[in-house]
Amino acid sequence: LLSQIGPDAHMRMILKKHPSERTADDLEIIYEELLHIKALSHLSTTVKRELAGVLIFESHAKAGTVLFNQGEEGTSWYIILKGSVNVVIYGKGVVCTLHEGDDFGKLALVNDAPRAASIVLREDNCHFLRVDKEDFNRILRDVEANTVRLKEHGLDVLVLEKSLSSSRTSIQGSSASHYKYKVMSGTPEKILEHLLEMMRLDSQFTESDSALDDFVLMHCVFLPNSQLCPVLLAHYHAQASQGSEQEKLDYTLNNKRRVIRLVMRWAAVHGDQLQQDEVSVAFLEEFFLAVSNDAKVLPTLRDQLIELERTHKILLRQFSMGDEKLQKRQPIKSNDEILFKVYCCDHTYTTIRVSVAASVREVIGAVADKLGSAEDLLLVNLSSAGEKSVFKPNDVSVFSTLSINGRLFACRRDQLDSLTPLPEQEGPSTGSLTTFELMSSKDVAYHMTSYDWELFHCVHELELIYHTFGRQCVKKTTVNLDLFLRRFNEIQFWVITEMCLCSQLSKRVQLLKKFIKIAAHCKEYRNLNAFFAVIMGLSNPAVSRLTQTWEVNIFAQFDPSRNHRAYRLTVAKLEPPIIPFMPLLIKDMTFTHEGNKTFIDNLVNFEKMRMIANTVKIVRYCRSQTFSPDSPLASKNHQDVWSYVRQLSVIDNQRTLTQLSHELEPRRS
Ligand code: CMP
Repeated sequence: LLSQIGPDAHMRMILKKHPSERTADDLEIIYEELLHIKALSHLSTTVKRELAGVLIFESHAKAGTVLFNQGEEGTSWYIILKGSVNVVIYGKGVVCTLHEGDDFGKLALVNDAPRAASIVLREDNCHFLRVDKEDFNRILRDVEANTVRLKEHGLDVLVLEKSLSSSRTSIQGSSASHYKYKVMSGTPEKILEHLLEMMRLDSQFTESDSALDDFVLMHCVFLPNSQLCPVLLAHYHAQASQGSEQEKLDYTLNNKRRVIRLVMRWAAVHGDQLQQDEVSVAFLEEFFLAVSNDAKVLPTLRDQLIELERTHKILLRQFSMGDEKLQKRQPIKSNDEILFKVYCCDHTYTTIRVSVAASVREVIGAVADKLGSAEDLLLVNLSSAGEKSVFKPNDVSVFSTLSINGRLFACRRDQLDSLTPLPEQEGPSTGSLTTFELMSSKDVAYHMTSYDWELFHCVHELELIYHTFGRQCVKKTTVNLDLFLRRFNEIQFWVITEMCLCSQLSKRVQLLKKFIKIAAHCKEYRNLNAFFAVIMGLSNPAVSRLTQTWEVNIFAQFDPSRNHRAYRLTVAKLEPPIIPFMPLLIKDMTFTHEGNKTFIDNLVNFEKMRMIANTVKIVRYCRSQTFSPDSPLASKNHQDVWSYVRQLSVIDNQRTLTQLSHELEPRRS
């Protein structure tokens, strides 16, 4: 028989049998055939033997036959035995062609997502092997290839890697964990397309939405708003080009709903940052209009339209500054104007008014205007210790990056050497113990914490990203973050200054105890930033060397070894609101940034984006509850404490501090 109909036909005959009717011989023959198939070469013998029992033969006679359409539910996985197919994506057309030995259709199965593309026969008489969903899940899901590379026009556009996804509660309430394909890298547009497709509209939160969240947070690094907005509009207007009228309508509608959801998420994350961005504002207007029009014919969009309208209105309202601004500290925006003093080498100064995001070039321009000088000027940060750092013409919003007692100077290059700090930069010559003594440690910690909350609250999530990637490169300011980080240093120097300016030993011992108490109260208020600032102030050599002052060693519990393991464990147990130890978070992000490329083979390294976004999400978690402890308003010097903690006057010159320390307790010979 075999010799008459040929081995292929025999194979086909066996494969066409219902799996339950296959004999042991049949299974052996199929198994041997599977050994030659490229798409299966990575699978074990056991898996291939199991597959032999479930594979189904499918053939189609005509080119142009559609195996399945983009957006449909996935029911099977296919291997091409003979012939070739086109991979077609709405709005893009044929993106690639697959040939004998290639496989397709597993994305939808593994990720429980709609089909990412339509598959259309490219020639007559194509043969396939098919594995249906249940069998695929049982036999293959967990052993299938770890990496999937999707190509378009011969180039990789998306690299996915299988990883165990954390449990998601299933309908029965039991939680199951299984493998899913996660984005590792890709072109910005393909990553977006993929994440949109994976978005589920039926549930509140899913893991793929968290990837979308990562995208929304991080896209400024690889797809700025000016490029993202047109892409979003194009997605919104995408039409299904295949399938029945009903199928096309379903696809179009779901697609629109997904894009709307993404846009709302995007607007929420960017918040008032969007207002400073004309492209984004124009986009939102246009998008809102498009959705309003669609909602007239597609009633299902109406709920979302209402939500979108709310987002839209909130953004518009913020254009006109309400009285809120008077009551509460508001984030500084890059186009806000500020006044600051720029000194000349003779210590005279001019006051200039520029926007927060002004570049050094613009600041110099403003100074030159005021002075009526046409000379080439340099802009310098002069520290209290006399150290000079010259700003580059492209640096932006320099005022928030000055050292604590640093001042801005403008001078000619030949004057650089003769610059001397202003007397006021030295800081105080007497401590503030007499005022400070009267305040309770708890009150001080409370007011420090509420001030820190104001500063922390103003830091935009995106500032963390701009800071990590270098704000010059994204052309954005990080003023609010700078000011918050600056406060950390200020507290640190305040502790050192007060300790070093307290000459009487008994008082100094008292002061030390007070700082330790303040730190403890800060910790109680879950203000770990101020807690560490105080502790690090106390561990500055100028303070820690004062052996007569120290009775106890408090440092054991703040051991920074093993990358601040003790701290990380503590925080993991805390409930928000928390003010995290910000310099450590910044360090983590910088570490991730410097240790990983942003692009791999011209594709966005999305794994890196995910890692950085995870740190941003820690900040988000810390702020997910508002700070509102019972304030110790009872004390009568409440106002004094309030203003004291906001106007710390410090010495920030380490040399001066060390000298003072040696005067207090001379080195023992
Ligand atoms: P799935 O989403 O299940 O169905 C369509 C299949 O097309 C998809 O799985 C991939 O296996 C395959 N495919 C090949 N190239 C691409 C591409 N560039 N984009 C999307 N899908 C592709």
